[in-house]
Amino acid sequence: MSMEPDWARRPAWLNGEFLDLGQARISPLDRGFLFGDSVYEVIPVHAGRPFRLPQHLQRLSRSLREVRIPEPLGRDAWSAVVQGLVDRAPWSEVSLYLQVTRGVAPRDHAFPDVPPTVFAMAGPLHPPGAEQLARGFSAITLQDIRWRRCDIKTTSLIANVLGRQAARDRGADEALFIRDGYAVEGAATNLFVVHEGVAITPPHGRDLLPGVTRDLVVELLRGAGLACEERPVPQAFLEQADEIWITSSTKDVVPVTRLDGRPVGSGIPGPLWRRVHALFLDWREREAA
Ligand code: PDD
Repeated sequence: MSMEPDWARRPAWLNGEFLDLGQARISPLDRGFLFGDSVYEVIPVHAGRPFRLPQHLQRLSRSLREVRIPEPLGRDAWSAVVQGLVDRAPWSEVSLYLQVTRGVAPRDHAFPDVPPTVFAMAGPLHPPGAEQLARGFSAITLQDIRWRRCDIKTTSLIANVLGRQAARDRGADEALFIRDGYAVEGAATNLFVVHEGVAITPPHGRDLLPGVTRDLVVELLRGAGLACEERPVPQAFLEQADEIWITSSTKDVVPVTRLDGRPVGSGIPGPLWRRVHALFLDWREREAA
């Protein structure tokens, strides 16, 4: 009888080679492990098509530049890794994960002169189901204790991990971070608030990740002639919101119907969310055609 974990046969890619995830080995001296000295991307794949691949690869390049890790692969090489994992993945909907660390070297904070570690894997994607969407998600608010460069998609995620777990501990799905009186984003999601009929999302900047899904939702709203503003969201807007949505690659755009134990608006997914979710699904269908 095999004792291997159920993920051991998932497709992976490590430093130039495709392999089973259960075979992948990383040194304990890898700086991703020792320091969280590392950046990443998560890319959903629907019907064999990676969602906004150029945007994800562009964000990865930007993260690498900002933390001064040399770009390990060109665009075509990244695309080949992505396609190879998609081809090997047995699931209809797939979540791809890409990570680059500063490499393996004896522990010292300053940069070593070594090649980056490059890792990628595929897993099954579980987007929220119809029932979950009909009920909506629940969220809590938390003070944002993260560093000042939340625009970089780094694997140093302990504050996000603690935030998401604090939500879990209170029976909620997501934690929304408040910084200096403004709601910025979730532990692993971006944020939209509907206030007086206008969808508002915090602007790009150092307080939040420039979400690929967020940017598409802004495009879709504007394309449909719906009011959408990118501006800071005071915590009071969150508390008085008619609707709250969160977005991410793994969740698309989902309604938050309970905040800190109280109903958001009428406590059910709102009309503007239904509109934007339909636009999102239409967009995906057109992309797949
Ligand atoms: N997280 N904000 C944070 C802090 C995130 O970690 C994420 C995504 C987002 C949404 O970005 P996008 O729409 O590009 O996925 C916003 C991924 C899914 C994760 O860490 O698993």
